[in-house]
Amino acid sequence: MSITTLAVIGAGTMGHGIAQVAAAHGLNVLLHDVSLDLIHAARERIRRGLERMAEKGKVVNVELALGRITAATQVEDVSLADFVIEAVVENAEVKGDLFRRLDAVCRPHVILASNTSSISITRLAAATQRPDKVIGLHFFNPVPVMSLVEVIRGMQTSDATLRTTITLAETLGKTPVEVKDTPGFIANRMLLPFINEACYALMEGVASAENIDKVAQLGFNHPMGPLALADLIGLDVCLAILEVLHRELGEDKYRPCPLLRKYVEAGWLGRKTGKGFYSYREQ
Ligand code: CAA
Repeated sequence: MSITTLAVIGAGTMGHGIAQVAAAHGLNVLLHDVSLDLIHAARERIRRGLERMAEKGKVVNVELALGRITAATQVEDVSLADFVIEAVVENAEVKGDLFRRLDAVCRPHVILASNTSSISITRLAAATQRPDKVIGLHFFNPVPVMSLVEVIRGMQTSDATLRTTITLAETLGKTPVEVKDTPGFIANRMLLPFINEACYALMEGVASAENIDKVAQLGFNHPMGPLALADLIGLDVCLAILEVLHRELGEDKYRPCPLLRKYVEAGWLGRKTGKGFYSYREQ
């Protein structure tokens, strides 16, 4: 089955990046969010991202790519998509409800993928009448830059669904890695304890945020330190992933750092709110 129209559900940090990459690779995109304002804001971010790609010779025509993106304010508007990628808030109830609605409106052969960073694919699949066609397709932030995608097979995901999803990931220029459906999959099971430990070090006053990050950058050659990376990912997303790891693997080593919790309670969610471990507000 050929995929020409991709639906992306959620126009936030990950959704707009996925839509950008898909449009740059010649796919038509139905970009869904709950309001036109949110979709228009995402289009502006996509335009800027495409312009950066064009500067590097990675996309030929920005207007042509942008023209492939259509706003969809109702879930029903994506009914003719050939493949769906969900990228909404990291909440199992919200995602489960969405999968139920997508299952009702999409054609029976269509694959429903989730960009979840930690929620069980098997659980999302159980919300549908097509569990064999539900799969995880986990992108990394910033989506246009990071080449990895984790492809997560739920208990009932079929071989055909896996093959089609891997082919789509490759069409988008990504390198897929197949992963079992376990909490946090591979990437976040490794990354979040690292970020969490950096939060504990900061809370305990071991070093400043700048110096903690400098250790990772200069000592391990990471492009950015764990606290700056947490700000990029979103502190609410980091906390949500840690809560899944802690609850479902049951080990103290995943217990979210109280300082991370406090930042989230304060609404300091990182770059997207202008403040996290660092400040991103214009002076
Ligand atoms: N669209 C298109 N291109 C973009 C872009 C966008 N939105 N954002 C950046 N780029 C491109 C730039 O044009 C530039 O391209 P060239 O290398 O060809 O020049 C390149 O990306 C680097 O960008 P910058 O020079 O602006 O910035 P930088 O060198 O400081 O790099 C960074 C920024 C790419 C974010 C880098 O710091 C980095 O790789 N950080 C680590 C990111 C990471 O680990 N992400 C994974 C997070 S975990 C996750 O996402 C999973 C989860 O579930 C939580």
